Amino acid sequence: MSVPKNQPEFDAYAKNYEELLDDPIRNVFAGGSDFFHRRKWDLLEEFARRHKIALDGVRWLDVGCGKGELLHFGCRRVKSATGCDPSREMLIESAEVSIVHQENPGKLPFADASFDWVSAVCVYHHIPVEARASFCREAARVLKPGGYCIIIEHNPWNPATRLIVSRTPVDQDAILLGAAESVSLQQQSGLEKVEVRYFLFFPESIYNKIPGWEEWMSAIPLGGQYMAVSRKSSA
Ligand SMILES: C[S@@+](CC[C@H](N)C(=O)[O-])C[C@H]1O[C@@H](n2cnc3c(N)ncnc32)[C@H](O)[C@@H]1O
Repeated sequence: MSVPKNQPEFDAYAKNYEELLDDPIRNVFAGGSDFFHRRKWDLLEEFARRHKIALDGVRWLDVGCGKGELLHFGCRRVKSATGCDPSREMLIESAEVSIVHQENPGKLPFADASFDWVSAVCVYHHIPVEARASFCREAARVLKPGGYCIIIEHNPWNPATRLIVSRTPVDQDAILLGAAESVSLQQQSGLEKVEVRYFLFFPESIYNKIPGWEEWMSAIPLGGQYMAVSRKSSA
């Protein structure tokens, strides 16, 4: 699909976004996109539980939020939920989530030290490799001292993930990054590594029956996606 040079790439995908994600393997894995967003929210809740973080005190920013589905899973549990994205067409106004258009893809439209969590879900693989470090520095800038930077990405070591990405139209420009690269971007931004966890080992039907298993397996670098979390020093 061709995208005019001066227009954010995802404007062209927004109208048929769900159809463009359609893939036979993805469809076997889950009944729809809801599962993938719910699974990520489960992961963030688990993270909060393990690190004894009171969710009702968390000011959360999801950068590259797209249609904001993940924020909607979690917004009632946190103190505030905000999303931003350079693609106006992807953004959907919401009563529960604060949605902000990001005019400049390289600059987050927020003051320094505004958020406790800054997540980016499947965003970095769309950012040119040479722009990733400065993008991560932006995430670190808007984090409060002691706040967490959360990168969730496709795992390049999972063959099914690679195959799906290679034939998904919205991923035609994707350059995947492994967990080590995500951690390195966070460390270059002055953040301290907290953890890397792999998930999406099992399709929805199995995950629903044995949800705890993915937690035990989270160190095995073969899940369909991973989460890399780093922390901004509180000093
Ligand atoms: C694959 S979509 C993921 C959307 C959402 N995070 C999700 O998981 O459903 C990638 C999103 O990243 C956004 N994006 C691309 N470049 C970006 C940048 N420089 N800053 C913020 N978002 C960006 C796109 O507009 C798009 O909405």
